[in-house]
Amino acid sequence: MKSYIISTIAVSAFSVLVATQNTTYQRGLSDHFIKFLDINKNYYPYNFNRTYYFGGSFGGKENDSTPINRVPVVFVHGAGDRIYGDDPSNNGFRYTIEYFLDHGYTKSELYGSMWAFADLPPKQYNLVSDTEYIIAIRRFIEAVLDYTGAPQVDVISHSMGVPLSRAAIKGGVYPMQNIGDIQMKPINVKIRTFIGIAGLNHGVYYCQFSFIRYLFLGCNDKNGFYPGNIVNGKVVNQSEFVHNLNEDKTKEADNAYALISLHDYQIFFNGEYMSGFPTMDAGFVFTNPNYTHLGLRDLTADFQYKLLNTNSSDDASLSEQVDLMVTKIYSNSQHDTVSEQRSLLLQ
Ligand SMILES: *[C@@H]1O[C@H](CO)[C@@H](O)[C@H](O)[C@H]1NC(C)=O
Ligand SMILES: *[C@@H]1O[C@H](CO)[C@@H](O)[C@H](O)[C@H]1NC(C)=O
Ligand SMILES: *[C@@H]1O[C@H](CO)[C@@H](O)[C@H](O)[C@H]1NC(C)=O
Ligand SMILES: *[C@@H]1O[C@H](CO)[C@@H](O)[C@H](O)[C@H]1NC(C)=O
Ligand SMILES: *[C@@H]1O[C@H](CO)[C@@H](O)[C@H](O)[C@H]1NC(C)=O
Ligand SMILES: *[C@@H]1O[C@H](CO)[C@@H](O)[C@H](O)[C@H]1NC(C)=O
Repeated sequence: MKSYIISTIAVSAFSVLVATQNTTYQRGLSDHFIKFLDINKNYYPYNFNRTYYFGGSFGGKENDSTPINRVPVVFVHGAGDRIYGDDPSNNGFRYTIEYFLDHGYTKSELYGSMWAFADLPPKQYNLVSDTEYIIAIRRFIEAVLDYTGAPQVDVISHSMGVPLSRAAIKGGVYPMQNIGDIQMKPINVKIRTFIGIAGLNHGVYYCQFSFIRYLFLGCNDKNGFYPGNIVNGKVVNQSEFVHNLNEDKTKEADNAYALISLHDYQIFFNGEYMSGFPTMDAGFVFTNPNYTHLGLRDLTADFQYKLLNTNSSDDASLSEQVDLMVTKIYSNSQHDTVSEQRSLLLQ
């Protein structure tokens, strides 16, 4: 049994590097936030500082009077990634964090903590959508709400972090090895805007191939990302986790958006955008070939900023983006436009 949550990693291998960073971009949690987490028994066991990894965490005030003027943002990275790394294999939300810091946000308004280990090969074979990850994400969002005193936070997530954070927000019943079922209430009223970038919301397409399916635990059809099979136009045998998540109509936030790319490694499954999700208000499709699975996250920092900081019911302000080809494709009440858009875009 993995016990990631209760493990305590005290190694500070990167403290020298951290000390020499430009303080504007200093990684890790602030001492003030760490102190808050440590004196609070409910958060200490989660080891949210993630000191063992360079850029494993970010956020926090300097002192009690540090102002928080914006709605705090919580970042949830994808599989094997970090919050604020320093090379393409672990950049996490590096570009978004730096863009936001350069545009008026402060470290007291931007938060993230790794929900797993940086599962690079061969550890990726062991990555499953464990309930522990969902709980770690949930507890971190709660810690940020608690610490900042903000009535709501925004959540920006990527890849596997999208379904995991949707689960953390929606709540529900999740099995925990050796403990039994864990029931969590929804906290969606505490989330103002949810952005899911290149999310694995309908599973992982490649898990259909048996040599991959049985190699990666993460492809399993209980708590993993098995996408199911298409039989007579219907998806059957989809992973229970993915299925239940999409059946749960609790909307993730007041505003829920998906960023979707036509140059992601997976795009459609049974006529649905795999990065879309049923409760979203809108999905924005990007057609520029530079917007790959990672590029979509890294090159849309300004778009993410706009989604959080402009009145997003004003579509014009979002589509006036010149270098990004953005199309509002469908709302959950207009599923039928998907196929039209699809044939249009693929021509
Ligand atoms: C840190 O980086 C920011 C952004 O590049 C820059 O504006 C600032 O002057 C730098 N601060 C120091 C102390 O180097
Ligand atoms: C928290 O993490 C930061 C950055 O890795 C590090 O500088 C700091 O020493 C850590 N603090 C604790 C208490 O682990
Ligand atoms: C508290 O932190 C703010 C920056 O967030 C700083 O301007 C202020 O000087 C600090 N106050 C004290 C008493 O250290
Ligand atoms: C669905 O799963 C059941 C039970 O494992 C299996 O018998 C059936 O062949 C599967 N159907 C498809 C289309 O994969
Ligand atoms: C993709 O990125 C490269 C490098 O930044 C740039 O030269 C090129 O114009 C971009 N392509 C498109 C279609 O935007
Ligand atoms: C956003 O725009 C809508 C429609 O124009 C309006 O009803 C709403 O009050 C605006 N919200 C804010 C926060 O300005």
